Amino acid sequence: MREITTVGVIGLGTMGAGIVEVFARGGLDVVGVETTQEYADRGRAILQASTDRAVARGRLDEAGQAEILGRVTISTDLGDLAGADLVVEAVPEIMALKHEVFAKLDDIVAEDAVLASNTSSLSITQIAAPTRHPGRVVGLHFFNPAPVLKLVEVITTLRSEPAVVEAVVAVSERLGKKPVVVGDRAGFVANYLLFGYFTSALRMLEHGHVSREDLDTAMRVGAGLPMGPCTLMDLVGLDVCHHIGDVIYSHTRSSMHAPSPMLGRMVTSGLLGRKSGRGFYTYA
Ligand code: CAA
Repeated sequence: MREITTVGVIGLGTMGAGIVEVFARGGLDVVGVETTQEYADRGRAILQASTDRAVARGRLDEAGQAEILGRVTISTDLGDLAGADLVVEAVPEIMALKHEVFAKLDDIVAEDAVLASNTSSLSITQIAAPTRHPGRVVGLHFFNPAPVLKLVEVITTLRSEPAVVEAVVAVSERLGKKPVVVGDRAGFVANYLLFGYFTSALRMLEHGHVSREDLDTAMRVGAGLPMGPCTLMDLVGLDVCHHIGDVIYSHTRSSMHAPSPMLGRMVTSGLLGRKSGRGFYTYA
């Protein structure tokens, strides 16, 4: 297995930019790719803001920040991933788009480079199926905010080669993450359970059983979670929650994941959580 020293990240939204930061902080060279210069600039701004915050909090000095940023190249050309040992795809959750990206990667990267998807809910088996080397494809699922949360799910398919899984686990550990190896089922492990919990919380709100504030307080103070479900859904993005919930439900058909009409209405109304300034709560 080739050593992983250069990593490509495709898609520089919140998750992709966070993943770039994780690899650069871990001492790896990173090439981040976006579709347009505007999105590339937005990705760079997310990276800058996150490392600025670490400097402001005294967690990183300016020389350290310059070193991290110096390891990152931002590009709008997938061809710049030719030298990558590992590529992590973090584009929007549309299967056709994932297939397009992986088909292009087949022609760009070396045959023994590893291809990973950061998808939250789509099937890794399905993403890998049309590629020329499905054995080198795994899921590598980070949690939001990626620079902070230690868990990564390494998702394997029936075709994933053991050496590929080992290499991805090893590089995750090198980054200071805690990898868990899980099978390819809807929601994997963490989101399968988390979204069942979100659905139950949404039902309580729909039935007027509790206010959003008291619901959040109950789980934060009573269950020792860092944030309650409404605050967490606002952080993840209500559109993202709606989409992931739908995908999991379409596979499980379990009432535990049945879509919430209220969440659907909020998304349709443009209440998307922190990123739109308003979700369950309003943000400055
Ligand atoms: N990017 C980078 N760093 C961030 C950050 C971000 N977006 N948000 C917070 N941080 C850092 C802060 O800089 C701070 O770092 P230091 O301790 O080094 O100074 C640290 O995180 C703690 O931040 P704060 O003090 O501002 O706030 P906090 O203590 O309330 O923590 C939190 C914020 C880390 C988000 C915490 O509340 C938390 O862990 N919440 C739960 C998040 C969670 O469950 N995420 C999973 C979502 S599900 C998912 O992601 C899966 C999916 O597929 C949808």
